[in-house]
Amino acid sequence: MKLGVVGLGHVGLVSAACFAHVGHDVVGVDARPERIDDLESGKMPFYEPGLEKVVAEATSAGRLIFDRDLANAVRDADAVFICVGTPSLSSGEADLSQVEGLAVQLARHLGDGHYRVLVEKSTVPVRTGERIYRTIRRLTDDEFDVASNPEFLREGSAVHDTLHPDRIVLGSPSPRATEVLERVYQPIVERSGCETVVTDVYTAEMIKHASNAFLATKISFINAVAELCEAVGADVEVVAKGMGLDPRIGSGFLRAGIGYGGSCFPKDVAAFAALGERLVGDFDLLRAVQKINERAPRRLLDKLRSELWYFNEKRIAVLGLSFKPGTDDMREAPSVRVIRALLDDGAQVVAYDPVAVPKAKEILPPEVEFVSAPLDAMEDAHAAVILTDWDEIQGLSPDDFRRTLRFPIVADGRNLFDPEEMRRAGVTYLSVGRKAVHP
Ligand code: UDX
Repeated sequence: MKLGVVGLGHVGLVSAACFAHVGHDVVGVDARPERIDDLESGKMPFYEPGLEKVVAEATSAGRLIFDRDLANAVRDADAVFICVGTPSLSSGEADLSQVEGLAVQLARHLGDGHYRVLVEKSTVPVRTGERIYRTIRRLTDDEFDVASNPEFLREGSAVHDTLHPDRIVLGSPSPRATEVLERVYQPIVERSGCETVVTDVYTAEMIKHASNAFLATKISFINAVAELCEAVGADVEVVAKGMGLDPRIGSGFLRAGIGYGGSCFPKDVAAFAALGERLVGDFDLLRAVQKINERAPRRLLDKLRSELWYFNEKRIAVLGLSFKPGTDDMREAPSVRVIRALLDDGAQVVAYDPVAVPKAKEILPPEVEFVSAPLDAMEDAHAAVILTDWDEIQGLSPDDFRRTLRFPIVADGRNLFDPEEMRRAGVTYLSVGRKAVHP
């Protein structure tokens, strides 16, 4: 099939490459000329395992073309995927200006008598599909439908998730659009055996927001339980294990820690809560989820402060900057809040991350020092804070902390180490939802 993909960010670029990988002819466009320049020269705009290979194979096979001109993504296309950004406004509601702008531009390129499905893939509040449809309908008499096909890809495994999804959700307004979308996904359904949920556009939009809000709720729930565990001396890791063995609860997304970050959960929870408040009066459940998430970094720093007395003039090693391993994405990463708070309190910060340093340098204050190995970060530091569960950090031994740090004090926002082993190695170990241990 012939497909257009508009917006070559995480969702768009991965989708475009994977559609081409399974045999479709794809034209990917982006309004940022430098993004197209980079892609044409084989440079990936972000770190995503396996993406470079899939893009290189698809471009050299001639099935994936990058272009600056929207017209080329629309001409001849059976379906055009809308993958532009939907950032948060200060109210928490989604900023849909890029979607609106694209709808108007798309209308200009229709009008050739060829039926197309315009597919919203960016996460948008429920009823956005209808607004896109009405905007374009006002401007053209051509035949088209607007469908919703939310993505569920996780950064760091986005290529795998796209080619082997848990489910495909098709929110379609007509049998004709459903048929087009089913053909788009047929090769992926065949190879992965996943289930397809065909529904109306509103319901598909709701599935996406409800899924992300639920996962965020699970994380905040276990983080609230972790707070209680600390108060009574229980171990949240064992509590989560005991809970997760019940198949109705499940063990996924029950890892207590520094809280969720990234480009999706914070934004989607805020937008879903704002939508609930606007349409039905309140969504207090999600407001509580946000509150628990916001206090997680502060709580970890409070524990560290109680060991160090003051951060002023202390050198703190920050291990891990990206919001999770497998990505260099710094959007809403807890590390940003932790580092700013440390600097505000007069600490010197020396940071390590295996891939996110270039992105981190763009957003962190210039006084942050960066090093290329975790042991270098800890050399001469008064304490270490662990913020991302990278293998390079999990692979450290308790002895590494004791030998390298000036004071062997570790505040671990990811619960990567066994407290008893840390204690035996002579480390003061402060983790989440477990007893603090001292040598
Ligand atoms: C998420 C969804 O998983 C994906 O389906 C959606 O389409 C986009 O948003 P992503 O943002 O890549 O994907 O990250 P994910 O792996 O889901 O993790 C989100 C955050 O939650 C990370 O900061 C992670 O560290 C945190 N997390 C996750 C926890 O704190 N505890 C957990 O148990 C799981």
